[in-house]
Amino acid sequence: MTIGIIGAMEEEITNILNDMNVVAAKNVLGLDFHLGTLNNSSHNIVLVRSGIGKVNAALCTQVLIDLFAVDAVINVGVAGAIDKNIKIGDIVISTDAVQHDFDTSALGDEPGVISRMDTSVFPADAHLIEVAKKVVSDIGFPVYEGRIASGDQFVSDPAVKERIAKLFDPVCCEMEGAAIAHACYLNKIPFVIIRAISDNAAEGSDVNYERFFREAAVTAGRIIKNMIAEI
Ligand code: ADE
Repeated sequence: MTIGIIGAMEEEITNILNDMNVVAAKNVLGLDFHLGTLNNSSHNIVLVRSGIGKVNAALCTQVLIDLFAVDAVINVGVAGAIDKNIKIGDIVISTDAVQHDFDTSALGDEPGVISRMDTSVFPADAHLIEVAKKVVSDIGFPVYEGRIASGDQFVSDPAVKERIAKLFDPVCCEMEGAAIAHACYLNKIPFVIIRAISDNAAEGSDVNYERFFREAAVTAGRIIKNMIAEI
């Protein structure tokens, strides 16, 4: 099996890359795709930094599928907590993903609905979710799973957070997961999103983000490495 691993930023992949046995690298669209193995697993791994935001993430996913023939995609990174029970440093596993900034409500659609698609809520793969839950609980973290809301926006305004919470009821928000999910859905490729919480997506989230995102990225990377051995 070939597994694609996508992080948006250098800090989100560097910890995984350091532990990878890299056998080749290929640059496509200016992105470095690192091919190899991880954690003594027999799976082939393709690790890549997509860049930030939904378009970068979707393009990167399509390259992984078209050029590297991945059988599954794992998105790793950090996120802002929306669910009040979830704290900085916690790990969140996606059950599904939506694009909170997709809005044709002026034309009568519900916010987040992608007009003329059969769904706008992209479900994560049940097996990948189960593996992630086991790994998270094995290392002694609380297991949080739920919807992930993505948008091309760093959320730090409490009113924006409240809107996203009310409309989509997600556990956290970030900027790539639902785009990766959307691309995987169209290609019929299983995916899961694993995010470590760097901030609470409200007042002070910019300061907390700067303070905690590196540490959170290390935690998320650790989960991915353990997952690969269990898939
Ligand atoms: N990634 C980490 N924190 C975030 C936030 N508050 N909004 C969007 N993406 C994030």
